[in-house]
Amino acid sequence: MEIVRRQQLKEKPAKGTALGFGHYFTDYMFTMKYTKEKGWHDAKVEPNEPKAFDLATSIFHYAQGIFEGMKAFRQPDGSIAVFRPEENWARMNRSATRMCIPNFPADVAQEGLETLLKLDKDWIPSEPGTALYIRPTIVATRVMLGVHASTEYLFFIILSPVGSYYAHGLEPTKLIVEDRYTRATIGGTGEAKCLGNYAASMKAGEEAEEKGFDQVLWLDANEKKYVEEVGSMNMFFVIGGEVVTPALVGSILPGITRKSCIQVLKDKGIPVSERRISIDEVIAAQQNGTLDEAFGTGTAAVISPVGLIRYRDKDYVIGGGKMGRITKMLYDTITGIQYGTAPDVYGWRRPVR
Ligand code: COI
Repeated sequence: MEIVRRQQLKEKPAKGTALGFGHYFTDYMFTMKYTKEKGWHDAKVEPNEPKAFDLATSIFHYAQGIFEGMKAFRQPDGSIAVFRPEENWARMNRSATRMCIPNFPADVAQEGLETLLKLDKDWIPSEPGTALYIRPTIVATRVMLGVHASTEYLFFIILSPVGSYYAHGLEPTKLIVEDRYTRATIGGTGEAKCLGNYAASMKAGEEAEEKGFDQVLWLDANEKKYVEEVGSMNMFFVIGGEVVTPALVGSILPGITRKSCIQVLKDKGIPVSERRISIDEVIAAQQNGTLDEAFGTGTAAVISPVGLIRYRDKDYVIGGGKMGRITKMLYDTITGIQYGTAPDVYGWRRPVR
């Protein structure tokens, strides 16, 4: 893999800085280009510096682009491990297919990522709860205003040392159920990790924040009846000892943390089902005392307890507003594997050597 070195390294955030999410970027990035003639080519690691684009570049107009989120973790012996990267590459290629973007070679992306991580390893934070967030992205780069799939693309990976996704850390989040705006519809792009899904969620997100909520809990587009996801997290509810997560009906992102949690729950013998769950069922369970826990899962959000849900102007407190037993077990199990403090019984930790 070609490496273009920087003349001078950037200044890193001082130890102990509250990193937040996505504010700092490392010295290097991975890039690879696509043209119809050459396919994917010119894979290299180069300095992470601004790039110039013609303003008629199609990504700016029609958002033909996709991304992923993964994390690299500092291990107790100082080495680096990435959590289930092969799952992200596979999902990214599924998103690519949905968005008319040519599939990329996952082995080249993985080699690029490992080269990048080795060069930028001093950026991986070691404070508890921190990690190096990995953002692979593909954007359409043909200079053209016709509404057609581009014939040129740029694949890039940038890295950002991060702390907690939510400003309040592991404190339970407050969600507001959205029953006017829609995130995604069946047959749309909801299960692809495409740029437009996130733009479409921002109006509801801003209004939720103005009212003091962390995130929006989306319902299905047709009936505004079934719980879908949170946009940055998949949702789980613990009702009467059963863990329920919305089934992947086509408008929900197939989360890798979600999939990992389902596996852990099954292996621990805890009943878990993927099915449609209505907001009425969630509210009824809260009212009859059987809604024990609610939590969200995601790469950025990890396992985040949900302490309160507002629906139709009424607030419903969950689990006394505290992190529940199953949420804590999943948090400990998944982060134990990620940070190398627990045995990797599933082979989910990919060491970077
Ligand atoms: C992630 O968890 O990696 C996400 O992509 C969610 C969000 C930060 C966009």
